[in-house]
Amino acid sequence: LTGGPLAGRHVIVTSGPTHEPIDPVRYIANRSSGAQGTAIARALVRLGADVTFVTGPATVAPPEGVTVKRVETALQMQDAVLAAMPAQAAVFAAAVADWRVATAGAQKMKKTVDGLPALDLVENPDILAAVSAPGPQRPRLVVGFAAETQDVTRLATEKRLRKGCDWIVANDVSDGTGIMGGTENAVTLITADGAEDWPRMGKDAVADRLAQRLAEALA
Ligand code: C5P
Repeated sequence: LTGGPLAGRHVIVTSGPTHEPIDPVRYIANRSSGAQGTAIARALVRLGADVTFVTGPATVAPPEGVTVKRVETALQMQDAVLAAMPAQAAVFAAAVADWRVATAGAQKMKKTVDGLPALDLVENPDILAAVSAPGPQRPRLVVGFAAETQDVTRLATEKRLRKGCDWIVANDVSDGTGIMGGTENAVTLITADGAEDWPRMGKDAVADRLAQRLAEALA
């Protein structure tokens, strides 16, 4: 049996993008490789955690040693997260699409001569905010992510309060950083105590450091 500081702790990790169908062949999605979420899940397993890994259609394969729940859409991701509760901690690294098409077409949409098709969008549930809401099921530690292209610390600090989560791992994904889809990340950890800038390092190193911090918080 495995030891480690997170032995006996259940942690839910979401990762990857969601795909929201428009019709059988088209979808709305965010760019996300699933690399950071996968690295975090792997680091948590290394510390002995029991990890439920809820993943959208990512390009990176899920890590060894987790319970994998594969989903496509935000609604499915929400169902899988809620079904996996309770957990001592939850890390929301997924890039969830903000909207879905109200009624996805059963047939492929066709080009028409008379104008463009209209897409009726509805808002997806905010899984991070829902799990962060106070209640008997709330994990002790809820961690969200914030990918911003400017004003990272200010926007992420606001996001932490708006979502009700304990920590936000914020990163700058603006053009030229090479972070999106790359192997490195430069993050700012936002907690109730303030903002901590971490040096640029590999996504695996960010994951190790975050898992370590999470283990300390749950100790
Ligand atoms: O609001 P925004 O999408 O920037 O928030 C990002 C954070 O919220 C990430 O941790 C993401 O996984 C989570 N999120 C979520 N459900 C959504 C949208 C975002 O869990 N519908």
